[in-house]
Amino acid sequence: MANRRPVIAGNWKMFKTISEAGDYAVKFLDEVKDVTDLDIVLCAPFTALHALKNELEESIVHIGAQNMAWADQGAYTGEISAQMLLDVACTYVILGHSERREMFGETDQEIAKKVQQALAVGLTPILCCGENLHLREEGQAVERVQGQVSRALSDLSIEDLSRIIVAYEPIWAIGTGKTASSQDAQEMCAAIRATLTELMGRTAEKVPILYGGSVKAENIGELMKEPDVDGALVGGASLDPLSFAKLIKNAGPLVARMEGI
Ligand code: PGA
Repeated sequence: MANRRPVIAGNWKMFKTISEAGDYAVKFLDEVKDVTDLDIVLCAPFTALHALKNELEESIVHIGAQNMAWADQGAYTGEISAQMLLDVACTYVILGHSERREMFGETDQEIAKKVQQALAVGLTPILCCGENLHLREEGQAVERVQGQVSRALSDLSIEDLSRIIVAYEPIWAIGTGKTASSQDAQEMCAAIRATLTELMGRTAEKVPILYGGSVKAENIGELMKEPDVDGALVGGASLDPLSFAKLIKNAGPLVARMEGI
C-alpha cells in the first residue's frame, strides 16, 4: 500500500487580482478547514501571493508560486527569486509547466537549475511533465515524459529527490475538457515512478505523483483510485473557492491509500 500523503494543488495561472485572491482565501479556508487527510496548495500569480500570506500563513492551506528564477539574485529583469517567494510565505513552486515550456521556451536544463534552486532554499518543487497529442499518437509519450523527468532531476542527491513532487500533465488534456482516462494517468504515473526508481531506488515510493489536465469535482474520485496517482494539479477548476473545495472533498475516500502514514 502506498505510503504517500496525497496533494491537491490549484494552479490559478494568470487569473486573480490582489482583492480577488484575498476574498477567495477567506471563503476557501472556511470550506476546507477540517480537511486533514491531504495537503492543499494554492499556486497564485506573484502579485497575489502577499494577499494569500495575510489570509493563509500557518493555516492548513499551503501557498505556492507558478515559476521562479534559477539565480539567487542579480541583474535578471522581470525575474522572481526563491528567496522572494519564501518572503511571501510560499512553501511550494510549480516548475516546468507545459505553458512555460511551450510559450516561453523553457528548456529542461533551465528547469533542472530551477529545481535545484528551489530545493536549496527549502521550497517544494512541483515538477511538471507531459506530452503533446502528436507524441501520444506516435506512441512516444512515455519516452518524452520519462526523458523530461530524468533530465530535470538527474543531478540531485537522493535526499533532495525525496523532497520533490512530480505532476504529469498531458498537454492535450490541459484546459480542453479532455481528461486522460484513469488508466492512462495510472500508466504514465507508474512509468514516472519507474524513472524515479532508477534515479533514487526505493525512495521513489515516497514521491507524490500528481495528475493534471481537466481535473474536476466529477472525475477526481476515479483518478485517485489509481495506485500511482497521488493527487492532482488543478487549473480551471481551482478558480472558484467553493467548487475547488468540493473537488478536494471528492478526492476521498483516502484512508485506504494512507495506511501507515
Ligand atoms: P486545467 O489545467 O485543470 O485547466 O486543465 C491544469 C494545469 O495546467 O495545471
